[in-house]
Amino acid sequence: MTLDVPLGLASASRQCVAAEAREVPRVYLWSSESLSLSSASRRNRRFGQVSWTIPAMGFLLRSSRRRKEPRVLRRCKGHGRRSMMGAALALSAGTEAKAAEEGDYVYPEWLTLPLAPYARRRTLLKEIVPNEVWTLDQIFGTFYVYVPIRATVLKVKDGLLVYAPVAATKECLSMIKDLEKKHGPVRWILLPSKAVEHKVLAGPFAKKFPKAKLFVAPGQFSVPVDLPLNVLGFPSYEVLDPEGLESLPWAEDCQTAYVDASTFGEVALLHKSSKTLVVTDSVISIPEDPPELLLDPEYRRALAYHAREAAQNELPDTVEVRRKGWARIALFATFFNPGALSDGKVEVPEAGVTRPWQWQEGWEKSFQRLRQGGRPFVAPIIQELILKQQPEKTLSYVDRISAWDFQRVVSAHFDCPIPLKPKQFREIFSFLTRPKPLAYCAEDVKFLADLQTSAIPNGQAVKVGEPCGFQLRN
Ligand SMILES: [Fe+2]
Repeated sequence: MTLDVPLGLASASRQCVAAEAREVPRVYLWSSESLSLSSASRRNRRFGQVSWTIPAMGFLLRSSRRRKEPRVLRRCKGHGRRSMMGAALALSAGTEAKAAEEGDYVYPEWLTLPLAPYARRRTLLKEIVPNEVWTLDQIFGTFYVYVPIRATVLKVKDGLLVYAPVAATKECLSMIKDLEKKHGPVRWILLPSKAVEHKVLAGPFAKKFPKAKLFVAPGQFSVPVDLPLNVLGFPSYEVLDPEGLESLPWAEDCQTAYVDASTFGEVALLHKSSKTLVVTDSVISIPEDPPELLLDPEYRRALAYHAREAAQNELPDTVEVRRKGWARIALFATFFNPGALSDGKVEVPEAGVTRPWQWQEGWEKSFQRLRQGGRPFVAPIIQELILKQQPEKTLSYVDRISAWDFQRVVSAHFDCPIPLKPKQFREIFSFLTRPKPLAYCAEDVKFLADLQTSAIPNGQAVKVGEPCGFQLRN
């Protein structure tokens, strides 16, 4: 199989990873005794820190040093940027603004899948349905393409069910502990996907809840060597039986559906009392504004990186600029090689790098066709390269879910919650029975169409839609 590597992306990737690594260089390592300190005594604790960097994914140790004092950055009391952001996040989440330290965001297991934001994982808790459904958002990505990744916590009989866990930082665990105090213990943890971004987080998370039972979607695999999950650091777990979906321990509270379509596997839950459908990657909706977490000062560089124009002296921090950065991030996350890119270098002082492309005039049309007013859709790579290629399996899954009674969807990425009823959900998958040209700019899906032709030459072809007039790069 031959694929054209998108021009400029290789050099961009090297620059971005190096820059990202420079800005998120510290991995905080605690001694076991500091981990066991109570929250009251944490303010005065002392712990060791070791600085690391990642020179272009090489994971090489650059230097280490020991500091005597922790970097204490509290949400409520401080005057720093992180303090203000933390307070804003807490307030926006409708939760009490608590003292949180920079160390509470650290995720020591980040090297398992070394994607940004590496060791520093902020968490945003939101209550989606009062006393029934909550989400825990974090950020993940690379090359400054930062998008949300989300765990969902469901109220079930005598406790909680955690769907698609995120990084088990102290901040994240503290939020869940607070929910446990009010609603009962975490009883079940579900890894509902084969996707690596979810899989690498589930094992370390489950280890923090030894009394909870871990279920995983069937068909798990790993590359380059196919290793069992316990070799990848998972505690004991049970593989979900597709024939036993009605007799799962959460059946009283949730209905379950499952699809296994080659590399894509997903377990969907219907939380019956709240009429909430929970999925991982099958349905998304892209908001116009950047996710709240991207306004964190450490993550906001991603917006600047993408929003910058050539010969632009100042980059004002306005709603419009944030939206521009976010729109371009969404285009990269969806198409990998957006059709509106052109050659050129752009200095991005906010990130300390040179961006090796510019955006052609009229690029906004790409985002408009992608977003379409926030309508829910299937990501084109999943739709065209996986689900459309296996329509029978997908239809069986979609039909089962469409028979459920729900009012909203909680997806593991992008916007949340998405107001959606079963009939609308079914319509999203109409490409399975009524194929039509894609609504996106033809230049945006060229990479996808080429990939389909190369990888699945006898499969269902990508039906490319109308072009938007961009000049394609060689
Ligand atoms: Fe995902």
